[in-house]
Amino acid sequence: MEKIDLFKGYLRLEDEFGLSGINDVLAGLAPVFEHPKGNTLRFSKALEGLPPAVASTIDLDRDAPRIGVESDLTPAGLEQLRKVLLELRPWRKGPFEVFGIDLDTEWQSNIKWNRFAGKIGPLKNRRVLDIGSSNGYYMLRMAAQEPRMVLGVEPQHSFYFQYHALQHYAGLDNLFTLPITFDALPVTREGFDTVFCMGVLYHRRSPLDMLRGIHDCMAKGGELVLENLVIESHDDLCLFPEDRYAKMRNVFFIPSLKAMESWLKRTGFADIRCVDISSTTLDEQRKTPWIQTESLDDFLDPEDGTRTVEGYPAPVRAVFVAKAV
Ligand SMILES: C[S@@+](CC[C@H](N)C(=O)[O-])C[C@H]1O[C@@H](n2cnc3c(N)ncnc32)[C@H](O)[C@@H]1O
Repeated sequence: MEKIDLFKGYLRLEDEFGLSGINDVLAGLAPVFEHPKGNTLRFSKALEGLPPAVASTIDLDRDAPRIGVESDLTPAGLEQLRKVLLELRPWRKGPFEVFGIDLDTEWQSNIKWNRFAGKIGPLKNRRVLDIGSSNGYYMLRMAAQEPRMVLGVEPQHSFYFQYHALQHYAGLDNLFTLPITFDALPVTREGFDTVFCMGVLYHRRSPLDMLRGIHDCMAKGGELVLENLVIESHDDLCLFPEDRYAKMRNVFFIPSLKAMESWLKRTGFADIRCVDISSTTLDEQRKTPWIQTESLDDFLDPEDGTRTVEGYPAPVRAVFVAKAV
């Protein structure tokens, strides 16, 4: 049983990449992870059970990023790896191929990636921030383009530990994840050249404050890739669910395409392009053996798939690309 150092090399964030204030954040996080409790303790113990292995190949530029092949592990090692990965359920974002294990996650996140990948600037040598990075699926896809560094922020510990399970074998030294919200990240002026904020803004009570905060940590001319639930209207309005939306308690403002554009303009962005609008399908989000919870099928009206169980329009997501000015 090997204890994995979750923050090994993380002093580089401040010392090499100039993200001032991060060392204080790390000092605050250390005790939580040195003496974990509750679910954090459970995930931490699971991680210690990862079998030793060296990935003979890493291929990130594919729908299911590949880390290692089956023959890198003994049958007993593979069995142990599968057990640990199952202990870290639910696996939402993916898919991945880990030492030949087909990690068929709830979301086919490759579908989202493919919607915008050809429509954003190259990531080579850029400093990238991924807000709400989950288990790092998109960070691995970004890594294939050789960014200077990618920092993910992901407050949910189950996803954070999944990231570490993958990174344990991938060993990518320009990828970092902090188990914090974006709001807890010290404001670093000109800190990032590209920021991804996908699937997060509708969870925020104050989306404009978040957008302004994102703007303030970006280099002038930097690129924001913003993905969010939208309503397909060109009027100046937002849907504000009375209580839940698709069974989620924490959904606040769902803007029209026009309102989203206004939010971006009024928080310091220009050259705003909506590069994709797509309904979420049962092909993209569905139940698999890697989750033990409900999925999209349970969130839609069984009589009318164009509505949520609450009677709101079913999820439609849009991707906006904009420049910080
Ligand atoms: C719907 S998921 C989207 C994940 C991924 N970005 C994607 O687009 O597939 C939202 C993620 O954002 C995280 N999150 C929620 N509030 C956040 C915040 N204030 N700062 C950073 N991450 C947050 C959640 O824990 C969750 O993993």
